[in-house]
Amino acid sequence: MGLGTWAWGDRFFWGYGRGYHDQDLEQVFQRAIEHGVDTFDTAEVYGRGRSERLLGAFGRKYGVLERMVVATKFFPYPWRFTRAALRRALQGSLHRLGRDYVDLYYLHWPFPPRSPEFWVQAMVPLVREGKIRAVGVSNVNLPQLQRVHQVLEGAGVPLAAVQVEYNLVRREIEFNGFMDYCREHRITVVAYSPLASGMLTGKYTPDNPPRDWRRRLYPPTFLERLQRLIRLMEDIGAQHGGKTPAQVALNWALVKGTHPIPGAKTPSQMKSNLAALGWQLSPEAVDALDRVSESLQLGRLTLAPFLRRA
Ligand SMILES: NC(=O)c1ccc[n+]([C@@H]2O[C@H](COP(=O)([O-])OP(=O)(O)OC[C@H]3O[C@@H](n4cnc5c(N)ncnc54)[C@H](OP(=O)(O)O)[C@@H]3O)[C@@H](O)[C@H]2O)c1
Repeated sequence: MGLGTWAWGDRFFWGYGRGYHDQDLEQVFQRAIEHGVDTFDTAEVYGRGRSERLLGAFGRKYGVLERMVVATKFFPYPWRFTRAALRRALQGSLHRLGRDYVDLYYLHWPFPPRSPEFWVQAMVPLVREGKIRAVGVSNVNLPQLQRVHQVLEGAGVPLAAVQVEYNLVRREIEFNGFMDYCREHRITVVAYSPLASGMLTGKYTPDNPPRDWRRRLYPPTFLERLQRLIRLMEDIGAQHGGKTPAQVALNWALVKGTHPIPGAKTPSQMKSNLAALGWQLSPEAVDALDRVSESLQLGRLTLAPFLRRA
């Protein structure tokens, strides 16, 4: 399991500075490192660079900067369309992190005008220079994944990881050949939003919906339908030594062979998420979760809900 750091410094979506602060994030970091979670997922866009900066600062303070496994992401803004733009963006990330290389560099979204193949090709010389240790892509569909994979294979660079939303209410990749392709070609599937952005913790209900952007993705009608799954997760958690729905959700993602990267804003969230490790859901429990979650599937994530007016 890794640690997602989208919320680190992000005021707009997550309300950084209101309810959680740098001191909380430092304790989240400390807890992660102490418990052997040393893979961190960040991006140049998270908190407009603040997430990368905090990660670099905490790594330096605790003397673990060089041994951390850091994944960050290039965002293909429409005004970025040359290979030099990617090189400059990587330099910016390295500067904020205070490191000479990143362990994993992703294309964040396959946005035009350039193709995802163009951007991964731009990463190849940076791999040879040792600035990027491994290449990944995020939010791609299966044909895009296959094209990127072929291009990289042609250049003799493995496609190490693909990062997509994967959780109990977004399992599309299990059914459309995406996961099979990754398994066959040994591409790690990194599951982002493994708690469905907090919905699978059970704390949000129709009477207590999230008050932020998440209300667009998960309206009260969805939260109503979700309660059956949450109750099942509570029962299954009780049968597995008193685990919470969040711990069941994370363990489910691990059992499915993915590498989940839950986000945590507070040390208590981090502590709770760490308890998803060191045990395993029974096959019967996984079957039951699969069955009940099937009717709740949300389909592929798009940016539409964020663009719609309130
Ligand atoms: N590649 C991409 O495009 C992409 C997109 C999204 C995310 N990601 C990556 O994936 C990571 C995780 O995704 P995510 O942050 O969207 O969603 P997530 O991991 O599914 O949910 C994280 C949120 O759930 C709540 N939470 C976490 N643990 C909890 C616990 N134990 N008990 C109660 N509440 C808890 C917190 O929010 P509240 O306290 O506010 O409820 C937290 O910010 C991100 O940080 C980022 O690194 C990548």
